Amino acid sequence: AKRTMCMRQELLAETGGVLHQLGASLPRMQNAMAAFLAGGKRIRARLLLAVGGSGQSINRERLVRYATFVELIHAAGLCHDDIVDGSSTRRGRASMAAAHGVPAAAAGGLYLMARALELVAGEEARIRAIVADAAWRAARGQAREMTDLYREDVSIEDYLRRCSDKTASLFELAAQLGAVASGVSLHDEKATATFGRHVGLAFQLADDLRDIVGGPLLGRERGTDIREGVYTLPILLTLSERREGWTALRSGLRRARLYRRQPDVDACCDIVDRNGSLHASARILHRHLADAAATSRRIGGSLGEALGVFAGDLADGVGEITGGGQ
Ligand code: IPE
Ligand code: IPE
Ligand code: MG
Ligand code: MG
Ligand code: MG
Repeated sequence: AKRTMCMRQELLAETGGVLHQLGASLPRMQNAMAAFLAGGKRIRARLLLAVGGSGQSINRERLVRYATFVELIHAAGLCHDDIVDGSSTRRGRASMAAAHGVPAAAAGGLYLMARALELVAGEEARIRAIVADAAWRAARGQAREMTDLYREDVSIEDYLRRCSDKTASLFELAAQLGAVASGVSLHDEKATATFGRHVGLAFQLADDLRDIVGGPLLGRERGTDIREGVYTLPILLTLSERREGWTALRSGLRRARLYRRQPDVDACCDIVDRNGSLHASARILHRHLADAAATSRRIGGSLGEALGVFAGDLADGVGEITGGGQ
């Protein structure tokens, strides 16, 4: 176990090295791009390497290549996400859009996607198809979020599908590519992809809930999603189930929109906290983590074990949001 952990760290470092090189070869923006690519938690690469490193035969070059293009596609999405959301910070520093302007950030995002394509082009047809499908889903989810802006009638099901497309797609991709690289059966490959979808959904739900919990404890501004018109699970639950305070919430959101004012995000966040929607959302998050853990147990063996550890680490990381969501 210790040896595989060491190897995974090595492969992660190698992936970081390749990303750095790619960032540094963008004309005129090399420093900004290299710095941007140096940041990030690399959770998708970690998932891919955890899966890919659990098998008997390990093809290191292949794993690093896969991890690199998955992180590139993700980083391209982040570059554009900060344009779409008007976010001024990313990865603990100014976002590309804020530091270099929207045109440069757009060009940078396109560059990252192009370099990912270049790597993917050398893969066999099946891999290319899997990657293309994930990229399309991520783009579709992001686009759907834009058409859903300010909409109060988005169903819980549609919201979860949107998150599944926007975010879980790349987790699913990472998990599945790791499985392909380690040569598991098609059955285990599919189960591994399902695992990826559950952790990916949990990851986006956690991000959305942190945006509502916010505060100094999480080191994060509160209510940026609400301000942008992105209504996430606790808001949608309150509105669709007419939970306590729903009319006040609705009129607050409508008034802000009508008069182009900032909504009172603290008031909105307090409503969904007091009426239990925040807790209900955390329970949904934890159900996906539990489903992920159950999937890892079904898979079993060294692969199942690696997935179990990954799900456990993610659960530890989200514990602080609502005290575990119990
Ligand atoms: C941020 O993803 C976007 C979401 C899906 C919430 P990460 O939190 O994985 O971003 P980095 O790569 O670590 O910066
Ligand atoms: C995730 O959504 C964006 C992508 C998957 C591209 P967010 O817009 O919530 O991500 P953050 O909160 O800015 O990191
Ligand atoms: Mg954003
Ligand atoms: Mg966004
Ligand atoms: Mg967010």
